[in-house]
Amino acid sequence: MILSIEQVSISSRENKIVDNVSLSVGEGEWFAIVGQSGSGKSLLSQAIGQMLPTNLKVEGKIHFKGSELLSLSRKQFQTIRGKKIAYIFQDYQSSFTPFRTIGQHFDEYLRTHGVSDAKRRRIESIYALGSVGLDENLYKKYPFQLSGGQLQRASIAIALTLSPDLLIADEITTALDSVSGHRVLELLAKKQKETGCAILFITHDWRHVRRYANRLAVMKDGEIVESGGKHRILDHPKHEYTKQLIEAAPILGQGLPSGLQEVEKR
Ligand SMILES: Nc1ncnc2c1ncn2[C@@H]1O[C@H](COP(=O)(O)OP(=O)(O)O)[C@@H](O)[C@H]1O
Ligand SMILES: [Mg+2]
Repeated sequence: MILSIEQVSISSRENKIVDNVSLSVGEGEWFAIVGQSGSGKSLLSQAIGQMLPTNLKVEGKIHFKGSELLSLSRKQFQTIRGKKIAYIFQDYQSSFTPFRTIGQHFDEYLRTHGVSDAKRRRIESIYALGSVGLDENLYKKYPFQLSGGQLQRASIAIALTLSPDLLIADEITTALDSVSGHRVLELLAKKQKETGCAILFITHDWRHVRRYANRLAVMKDGEIVESGGKHRILDHPKHEYTKQLIEAAPILGQGLPSGLQEVEKR
């Protein structure tokens, strides 16, 4: 296993938000966390990257490639974040500063992660843009000049430039229309094949679970109510809550949202 979360709880002064959660992600695996809004998915994923809001306390253990992450100092953790664990967020717009070009974002990411040669940063950035199907002209463009789908692709490209072992993707298609969202996930799946990275994929969309995940965990009110292989859970959910979620999911099993088949052919 590349990531093992063991009995992790996250609390505010008033209450326990994530309660005794354990899960593990294998090398190269696509692991989904599914659950309604407010169930603690984002906080759990932020705990892995030492990114929790300061008013929250975390207990338990998170093992990642031989390190116990919760016991690392911020400084020790800096060597892990970005290079070995990278994030992509739902709110791609806020990952970009409006008055800086896409190229400057790449450049800064690579520089803060130790790529000191400016020429190499430029070459790697342009290569990375190309590798997610974006034109190298975008290097000079500002975020507002790109569509939502292009920006999310750019953020995937940035996250993958340093070949992380684990990519944490938190609701990355939620802010996109379904066609762009689908393209972004197909890209992610392709990049995963190429790089072999594991993906911790947070979603509330069962279609995406069915299409991409290997295993998954279902979260409700801060707890994991059920976890296991995708087919077992989708076809034979055990927990009442999982059954409800799957039943409530629109057009599950039809694969792609309507209209996408056409796009696929292009
Ligand atoms: N800094 C915080 N302090 C207290 N409660 C918080 C904080 N951040 C989030 N929460 C609460 O924790 C719960 C889980 O949040 P979150 O992990 O964002 O849920 P999800 O990603 O599953 O929608 C929510 O009820 C949210 O309001
Ligand atoms: Mg969330």
